[in-house]
Amino acid sequence: MRPKIVAGNWKMNGDQAFVHDYMSSFNECWNEKRLDQFTDLSVIIVPPAILISSVQENAKRVGVNGRFELASQNVAEYSSGAYTGEISASMLKDSGCRWSLVGHSERRALFGDQTIVIVEKIKQLLTEGLRPILCLGETLEEREQGKAEICVKSQLESVLNAFSVSDLRKLVLAYEPVWAIGTGKTASPEEAQAMHQFIRSVVASKSQDLAEAMIVLYGGSVNSGNAESLFGQSDIDGALVGGASLKPDEFAEICAQCGQSTVS
Ligand code: PGA
Repeated sequence: MRPKIVAGNWKMNGDQAFVHDYMSSFNECWNEKRLDQFTDLSVIIVPPAILISSVQENAKRVGVNGRFELASQNVAEYSSGAYTGEISASMLKDSGCRWSLVGHSERRALFGDQTIVIVEKIKQLLTEGLRPILCLGETLEEREQGKAEICVKSQLESVLNAFSVSDLRKLVLAYEPVWAIGTGKTASPEEAQAMHQFIRSVVASKSQDLAEAMIVLYGGSVNSGNAESLFGQSDIDGALVGGASLKPDEFAEICAQCGQSTVS
């Protein structure tokens, strides 16, 4: 069985006081739900870059450090130099990140992160030994026009074609239908499963082995009420959680449901 991942993307939310309270409460929830028992589950927290060190300090303070890994929400497409406002992969590594999101739909739609930029960002991460979480997903319009698969395939293929199989083994994919992000609408477990299976078949055209090993997360309004049925699908290997990850008890419950799917 593939290992599972639950990642919590805080987006542009939180401050020092939030992190302080969050980590205290997350630690309590972790212990209550005995999340340590789920050895095939990795938990990743994806805070705004400026809060990464605060998350680490507070995690140490309460004793939940070492139980989750850190990801960045974004990374520069360049390695260093005159790029005001950007954060390089080596800086992220130096601050303790092991992962970074790439190609989140908000980055694609609002900040011009198109294929060519996404490929460069992935190159930067791989050079530093960080693992990319590549987000893929269609808009509502594309789905209504019956173009969901074509859209996701083209987003995925542009990355599959740019890297070797051994590099691609470092990637995790996250299928996030844009119409389900922050809207309260989730893809049904069957809709999500169908797309995850399709994604795996596209990866299989590059390498069957890679397709079988590839971790594919689902994202888009995941919460403690819908997570279990999503995790029950054979091609869904965890979740990328936005809004619900801002509540530590809710996030811990989603982690517990994912962990439970590895043992049941
Ligand atoms: P959501 O966000 O869970 O708030 O829909 C998911 C994401 O954008 O990663």
